[in-house]
Amino acid sequence: MISYILLGSFAFLLYVFIKKYTNEKSRIVAKIPGPKGIPIFGNALQVYLQHIHNDLLRWAEEYGPIFKLNFAGELVVVLNSFDAIYDALVTKSADFAGRPNDTFRIKRLFEDDDVIFQDYTDKVRYMKKLMLQGLKMFGEERSNLIKITQSEINLCIDKFAAKGDKPFNYDDAVDMMILKSLAEVIGGMQFTDEHPYMKLGAEMTESGVKVLSAGNGLELDMFPWLRFFGNQNYKLMMESYRLRDTIITGMRQDCETSLESNNSIMGVFIKAQRDPLSSHQISDSNITKASDIQAKLQKEVDQVVGKDRDPSIDDKENMPYLQATLIEVLRYLTPGPISIPHKTLVDTSIEGYAIPKGIQVWTNLFAMQHDPVLFPDPWQFKPERWLEDDGNLVSLEKRNKAFLFGAGRRICVGEQFARTRLFLFCAKLMQKFTICPPDGSQIPSPDSRGFPLGLVLHPVPFQIKAISRR
Ligand code: HEM
Repeated sequence: MISYILLGSFAFLLYVFIKKYTNEKSRIVAKIPGPKGIPIFGNALQVYLQHIHNDLLRWAEEYGPIFKLNFAGELVVVLNSFDAIYDALVTKSADFAGRPNDTFRIKRLFEDDDVIFQDYTDKVRYMKKLMLQGLKMFGEERSNLIKITQSEINLCIDKFAAKGDKPFNYDDAVDMMILKSLAEVIGGMQFTDEHPYMKLGAEMTESGVKVLSAGNGLELDMFPWLRFFGNQNYKLMMESYRLRDTIITGMRQDCETSLESNNSIMGVFIKAQRDPLSSHQISDSNITKASDIQAKLQKEVDQVVGKDRDPSIDDKENMPYLQATLIEVLRYLTPGPISIPHKTLVDTSIEGYAIPKGIQVWTNLFAMQHDPVLFPDPWQFKPERWLEDDGNLVSLEKRNKAFLFGAGRRICVGEQFARTRLFLFCAKLMQKFTICPPDGSQIPSPDSRGFPLGLVLHPVPFQIKAISRR
């Protein structure tokens, strides 16, 4: 066993050494500044994976709009300023539309059959179109999406209410709400909390997150042969795939039996497979701490919605303060600090530096969304930065400057879905409850520099009290 590990490690070091010194890419990016690494490992030992967002923030302050890193031979170019990120995502969108997808975990997990981790090929463009089409079906028949969203929100709110004035951890209820509404939009069917798919989905998410979070499972990308030696993360990964396949196969069968009336994303995909022509024809919290912010949100919801009816998506335009608060939540926390890595598909350039084809590029949204020039006092939570003096929302152009959902060819498919759900959930929450910490206890600091990075940045679990506003 030990000899296998030693042999594998030696082969790995040799591979890295050869890669580093024969690599044409290293020569091309040599002029891009960046922290000096150590032999063989480059900068790999200088980052703390669970807090890599802070390392990148520090280097952005030191090196400016662009710097490079070397992870044991794998070169990464990091873009930190609005101009550099705009150039890559929008102006040169086609050049930067690839995804680095040759790691062991990504290959095993997605088997070249997903949207997120493939280069921007015709197939990916087509799949994104189908996904948007599926989501649009819900959007066009707005009542559908709103109905799904609202009934899940109401169930979650009922769970909060059932706690009375007792402290509780909101994660389970909120996770179940997200899981169920996603499953309904993907599969077009309603599920109860007890439905076997929901239970399997929760287990799949738990094991998947464990093995894909930053800092976990990386050893499998570096030493894929560890899977033959009882690696725990490999076992978790395989368990997560098994659960995923069980759910997808089951949902697909259910979906096929109700295909005529099924307008879900999965329904659109199945119809497109059966009749490709038809698819072408359709074509183309820090809130709890800031009680004054909470009071303003409650005042707005009381004025616009009142106490009795459910908030609706039509209320959105009359509720600029809630909209501004949600934008500020996503900017302040930056849930995905380096977004999803991109890869150059051709030789190109940024900020006057040549970037060769096949280089991994990270958009450092964490640094950009906390750039004091763009967002003065970046670590202050200020919904007002998104409001004009007259209380209206700032223009769409200004709002888009935060790249909350990316931009260009790889823009988030779920943007409208996520925005709608966030709005309806938070409006209902503020209508029904005053959220506060349990008596005498402290909630963790909302500063996301202190959050560990899993799939997204997430505070450590904590309890809240939801006091009914009856
Ligand atoms: C608040 C919630 C969300 C945020 C902040 C968010 C943000 C993002 C960002 C920053 C990207 C990467 C853009 C890039 O590569 O430069 C992305 C990609 C993506 N998102 Fe979201 N997202 C959210 C919710 C969702 C939801 C609910 C769905 C599904 C319904 C979704 C589906 C996707 C997909 C499929 C991609 C990959 C697109 C591609 O690779 O071309 N997202 N998202």
